[in-house]
Amino acid sequence: MPFYSDNLIEEVREKNDIVSVISEYVPLKRSGSNYFGICPFHNEKSPSFSVNPAGQFYHCFGCGAGGNVFTFLMEYENTSFPEAVEQLGRRVGMEIKEAQLSPEQRAKADFKKRLFDVNRLAARFYYAQLMGPSGSFAREYFLNRGLSSSTIKKFGLGYSLKYSDALYRYLKKEGFEDSFLKESGLFLFHEKNGVSDKFFHRAMFPIMDVNSRVIGFGGRVFGDGKPKYLNSPETMIFDKSRNLYGLSLAKRSKRKELVLCEGYMDVIALHQAGFDHAVASLGTSFTPGQAMLLKRYTSEILLCYDSDEAGIKAVRRAIPILRENGLRGKVVSLAPYKDPDELIRAKGAEEFERRLQTAENSFLFETDCQKKQYRFEDPEEKTAFFQEVAKLLLGFEDELERTTYLEAVAERYRISAENLKQLVVSMAVRYDSGSRPGNPNERELQNIPRKKRKEAQDADPARKMLLAWLIREPKLYSSIRTLIRAEDFGEGLCRRAAERFFEQLKEGGVNPAKLISSFEQEEEHRFVAELCSIEAGSYENEKEKQKAWEETVLRVKQLSLREAAAKLDPLDISGLQQMINERKALEHLHISL
Ligand code: UTP
Ligand code: MN
Repeated sequence: MPFYSDNLIEEVREKNDIVSVISEYVPLKRSGSNYFGICPFHNEKSPSFSVNPAGQFYHCFGCGAGGNVFTFLMEYENTSFPEAVEQLGRRVGMEIKEAQLSPEQRAKADFKKRLFDVNRLAARFYYAQLMGPSGSFAREYFLNRGLSSSTIKKFGLGYSLKYSDALYRYLKKEGFEDSFLKESGLFLFHEKNGVSDKFFHRAMFPIMDVNSRVIGFGGRVFGDGKPKYLNSPETMIFDKSRNLYGLSLAKRSKRKELVLCEGYMDVIALHQAGFDHAVASLGTSFTPGQAMLLKRYTSEILLCYDSDEAGIKAVRRAIPILRENGLRGKVVSLAPYKDPDELIRAKGAEEFERRLQTAENSFLFETDCQKKQYRFEDPEEKTAFFQEVAKLLLGFEDELERTTYLEAVAERYRISAENLKQLVVSMAVRYDSGSRPGNPNERELQNIPRKKRKEAQDADPARKMLLAWLIREPKLYSSIRTLIRAEDFGEGLCRRAAERFFEQLKEGGVNPAKLISSFEQEEEHRFVAELCSIEAGSYENEKEKQKAWEETVLRVKQLSLREAAAKLDPLDISGLQQMINERKALEHLHISL
């Protein structure tokens, strides 16, 4: 990644004031020492997106997005880090020499740019054909399907001509060479018969990324031919598992949720009917990458798949993917209609709105599906069903959430909550690798094996708080320098942040934006920005503050000792002795402010 020197990166960063850069995308208002605006990374009505000019970072208190000026550009424009450096370099008139890119990297960047170019030109070409004299047939097709001409324009729909090389000839005229076109995904190169367009005589649906750049196409046959839809193959810019049809429009919707449906036509019909928050996956099943993408804009997904067997299966596959990525899912029932388009044509938009409002909780949808596979008259089958349900309940990491669902399920299927709880506990024991001796009890229920959580959520609050103190008041570092080390911050994200952060402190100051630059992952950028945004508590007086500071340090130290103790070999006498000493030392701790 870092093929630009650190110095160059810092220079570009320093010359691009974060407030002025972000202002080009998001209206910001000053409030105190920070600026605030409506977060561009999720849907909200009141501004929780903050930009800190002193630290040169941004942080959204709503969705947790955060980072420095590079992170912002990467997230907003969907670009790579080097592209963000180049773009910001150009912005301030710095000449970022091409030589600083290796030849391969330069070639790759050029190739990518030309892929965007060629897809954009192709989309324009198909649109022109649709509107031209040969397009009347296709225009009729779209109109027959109920699409207005403004909808056609909004989605940039098109028509690929009957001639099998119309696009090819056009692009050759535009100066593209075969070796490139071969890789564009828009053509078939035959050994004997030369080149033909991949799409001909099809209704064309350009597929765009979140930033409205055309990255590929779906082409529908007129009538019943097969395959019904032909899709562009994946290229360097077209990753089917990380894009969603309609998202570039839906991300601007004022609605809180997003509707996930099955096909291109569903999305288009819904947008036309006023549901501007509909998106669809791209001819493949729903992926974790798409869930992460959705997470940037919402936390609630309304699943709106076809009501046939395939649709139900797809919903059941999508539900756990949503949950694992921290999204709430609800299932919209379309029955007896097959898809949203059909329902709206038959019953109108108000009925669809009603279906959205009454969408079913996805967990209960799943248990209902399971229930259909068991005959309740048979006690054995009934037991087997509840065992399944217990297993599903185990999937909840959050205690309260699990209990709430347990109660809902118990009521729904008429079993006592107490019995169901016992079942969950015994399931937990069975699924725990080293089953514990003794009876399962309440405590075990709390110790149910948890899936590894997101690192950031895992970070201990005291650890985060301590780092936040030091960011606000770097001079405090000298008072704990000998006491607290990076090793006291566990093994995750917090530890990595602490390491680099202490390095900076030793060099004398804290520079949030620079700290952020030293990390590569988006998750790390967010985390550091979040730390930098934690507000100072308000204290009655110096004494109170002193107490709070001491407590924070103490908690971090205690936690780290506890963790170390858990790892210690019980036979390591000198290790144990040392631990006891360290604990004792903590009792008399006094750290000055
Ligand atoms: P559908 O058959 O439900 O298509 O497939 P649809 O979008 O509702 O289209 P119409 O109303 O019949 O025109 C759902 C999605 O599955 C993918 C496409 O992405 C489609 O939008 N698909 C389907 C294919 O990629 N190839 C196919 O042959 C069929
Ligand atoms: Mn469909």
